Amino acid sequence: MAGTRDRYGFDEFLPEIPRYLKEKRYIAIFPRPLQTHLFRFHHASLHLPRPSSRRKHEIQHLVRLFAEAAGRARKAGFDAVEVHGAHGYLLNQFTSPLSNRRTDGYGGSFEGRIRFPLEIVAEVRKEVGSDSLVLYRLGASDGEGRGVTIGESQTFAQRLVRAGVNIVDVSGGLIGEAPEGMTGQGYFLPLAEKIKQAVDAPVIGVGGITDSAFADQAIREGRVDLVAVGRALLADPEWALSARRTLEPS
Ligand SMILES: Cc1cc2nc3c(=O)[nH]c(=O)nc-3n(C[C@H](O)[C@H](O)[C@H](O)COP(=O)(O)O)c2cc1C
Repeated sequence: MAGTRDRYGFDEFLPEIPRYLKEKRYIAIFPRPLQTHLFRFHHASLHLPRPSSRRKHEIQHLVRLFAEAAGRARKAGFDAVEVHGAHGYLLNQFTSPLSNRRTDGYGGSFEGRIRFPLEIVAEVRKEVGSDSLVLYRLGASDGEGRGVTIGESQTFAQRLVRAGVNIVDVSGGLIGEAPEGMTGQGYFLPLAEKIKQAVDAPVIGVGGITDSAFADQAIREGRVDLVAVGRALLADPEWALSARRTLEPS
């Protein structure tokens, strides 16, 4: 799974996928409307789709659809649902000033940009009741001056918790990749630490974690409450078992 990261739309790159897999490059495939994800951070403000065309009744319909999806997850027996507000997906397109150019109540000011996700969280909470966990994947920083800042995200996280979020899962902003210079174990942990300082709720940190001792120390030091591990688990599905053996030798 090591190597260059590319994000492509589905149809036209379908024939390319076997070649990428052979080269052990990993890819994320998005439906056609989200193809602009393939642009990197510094192009984000130029090329990202802007959520300007959705009318108020469409937004209210989407809020309902999110809630219904959460309700189905609950019915299916899941203990928790996570609302995805990062990586350039729809909610992140609203929260980032790089993509949200609306001038109505769902754009413009910070309050306007966070309104849609807050409405979704409130409706999801209503739908799943008080005994299900609701997580929010927060795109905490766009990593560029005109984008979402960590200060804004601290306030947004507080509002999310007030609206019904139990756990804040902190990732990067519009693109979701590690910005240049952010490498090594736990590259988004500094963002998660800042969110943790702002909210009275458990916070998840993520990014390049492969070393269980590092993960354990980050939690013991109170930098984050939980860690998320992605690619290390794909590379070794028994990563968690090995971590347990390393951290709790019998
Ligand atoms: C191929 C691939 C697909 C991913 N898809 C998603 C996704 O659909 N939703 C999401 O929240 N994060 C997604 N991520 C990001 C991971 O959740 C995680 O934040 C990121 O890989 C950093 O953690 P890691 O270094 O432990 O892999 C994806 C990552 C990779 C490599």
